Amino acid sequence: MSNSQRRVAIFGATSDIAAAYARRCAEARARLVLVGRDMAGLERLAADLKVRGAPEVIVRGADFTETGQLADVAEGAWSAFGGLDVVLIAYGSLPVQERLNSDPAEAEAALKLNFVSPALLANLLAARFEAARAGTIAVITSVAGDRGRQSNYGYGAAKAGLQTFLEGLRHRLYASGVNVLDIRPGFVATKMTAHLPQGGPLWAAPEKVAADIAAAVEKRAAVLYTPWFWKGIMTIVRGLPRPIFHRSKL
Ligand SMILES: NC(=O)c1ccc[n+]([C@@H]2O[C@H](COP(=O)([O-])OP(=O)(O)OC[C@H]3O[C@@H](n4cnc5c(N)ncnc54)[C@H](OP(=O)(O)O)[C@@H]3O)[C@@H](O)[C@H]2O)c1
Repeated sequence: MSNSQRRVAIFGATSDIAAAYARRCAEARARLVLVGRDMAGLERLAADLKVRGAPEVIVRGADFTETGQLADVAEGAWSAFGGLDVVLIAYGSLPVQERLNSDPAEAEAALKLNFVSPALLANLLAARFEAARAGTIAVITSVAGDRGRQSNYGYGAAKAGLQTFLEGLRHRLYASGVNVLDIRPGFVATKMTAHLPQGGPLWAAPEKVAADIAAAVEKRAAVLYTPWFWKGIMTIVRGLPRPIFHRSKL
């Protein structure tokens, strides 16, 4: 299918990574559905995407922590153009681990936003892709899901759960020709990490991650580490013997 006919839905479209991906899609003349909770931000993004070449951009409001509404959210995005070719599930939050340790309600909310909600949404969309027997379901997880660390194991566990969910979903959808892409970025300079000292060789711009996502969608890749060097870093981190790992401050 040519890019100009492609129908793309982005959930959490105001994410800096998602917006960079949306700009690439617009420049390739895809039709877009943008879903999120910040309607003014979505409208601004939609106007920019039209200027960049998107023939049609539809905006839909959703709070992804309202999991009871996800069936309507999935249906609204799917029916906007009478089906979809690519979805990107991008929303998430980076909680402070110490707060999760002392506040179970906050821990529950973080697990819900970063695991329960995207898993449920991916499954709701999967049924439609399975019936259509084509398309790509792309979901942003994180390298943080590759090994539990003292500094962010709540977030890491949510992302690890999502990775395993996607692995099973990929297995299920293989027979119907639907690709499931698990996107694992390292450090990306976005709103989410604005409180950290961004910069240095391990940090990437959202545009770089978006370019890697676009290439992985075309290649029908299963798992994307972005930038590429995180695959090697995480192989080392996963392989560190526990006595050494426990003495680290990771
Ligand atoms: N930045 C990194 O270093 C990094 C690394 C690995 C993985 N990731 C993952 O990449 C994805 C995108 O993050 P980003 O870095 O682009 O951060 P971001 O710019 O802060 O985007 C986060 C997105 O999640 C949305 N969101 C949060 N809570 C929501 C809720 N309750 N309902 C609806 N939307 C909600 C935000 O909406 P608003 O705009 O309305 O706040 C925003 O669209 C996330 O899944 C994140 O975990 C990021």
